Amino acid sequence: MNLTIRPRRLRSGENLRKMVRETRMDPSSLIYPLFVREGSGIKEEIPTMPGQYRYTVDTMGEKLESLQNAGVTSVMFFGIPDAKDEVGSGAYAANGIVQQALRRARKDFPEMYLITDVCMCEYTSHGHCGVLHGHEVDNDRTLKLLAQTALSHAEAGADMVAPSDMMDGRVAAIRSTLDEHGFINTPIMSYAVKYASAFYGPFRDAAGSAPSFGDRKSYQMDYHNSREGIKEALLDVEEGADIIMVKPAMSYLDMVAKIRQEVHVPIASYSVSGEYSMIKAGAALGYIDEEKIICETAASAFRAGCDIYLTYFAEDIAGYMAEGKIG
Ligand code: PBG
Repeated sequence: MNLTIRPRRLRSGENLRKMVRETRMDPSSLIYPLFVREGSGIKEEIPTMPGQYRYTVDTMGEKLESLQNAGVTSVMFFGIPDAKDEVGSGAYAANGIVQQALRRARKDFPEMYLITDVCMCEYTSHGHCGVLHGHEVDNDRTLKLLAQTALSHAEAGADMVAPSDMMDGRVAAIRSTLDEHGFINTPIMSYAVKYASAFYGPFRDAAGSAPSFGDRKSYQMDYHNSREGIKEALLDVEEGADIIMVKPAMSYLDMVAKIRQEVHVPIASYSVSGEYSMIKAGAALGYIDEEKIICETAASAFRAGCDIYLTYFAEDIAGYMAEGKIG
């Protein structure tokens, strides 16, 4: 055969394949989501997320240390309070669970980069991401509380805040409140393109944050829409978002690729709880190879164009990178 162009030439051996690799990754682009609950001496496995735990402030150090040793230096805190109320006061309490975790981590792990999820749903008795007016989530009244939450996180030692509520105008509200209080250098990573997704199921179980009535479709996006995601991303950049997140990851990598063309800020992709649990379940049944699937899904997010990848597999992935399995 007289074939001039043979794409297989560049696939002939491991050295060459690595030389021409288009997507390169390292552990500094990984963020690990960490659940912290009230109480002490507890490390409890999350039933729908095998291998993931709810820690208390005094037990989380074990996980932070192993992450750091693996080269994962960024974490995102999710709080699980004991008490919830209508207005989610635990979210912005000076001694709330995330604020306590931040102070402790700041002291014990000064090298770690501490990010917080800013939302009301883990703290409201009704489980919605904002305060209610009847059965509606009241956008404008929620903004003040989100800004207050972000400020209390910054005051407790957060390096970056990440609003995940999907209220309109929250990035601008948070930016101006942080600035007024001198936190001009605290970046905002906005969950700008967040879809109403069944992939959050195990998380809601982990955090006890499922809405007590209705769903989140009046604030999170309809998964049939793509242009609307670009609109959300552009809007948040205009409001001052430093990083734009697309969430979930796996079924939404088209959005990562599109938004990559539209904005000039870093893009994060969040591989959510349902993605984690599906891989765990499939592997436990012997249907798929856990390690290979984790590597392939992580690489696909970076290939789509994200700069940052949030994943419950962060420590495993860092290990695979060290072993040269991906990266
Ligand atoms: C809070 C929040 C959620 C997730 C991140 N922040 C839950 C939700 O919106 O219902 C999901 C994370 C995951 O599933 O891993 N609003």
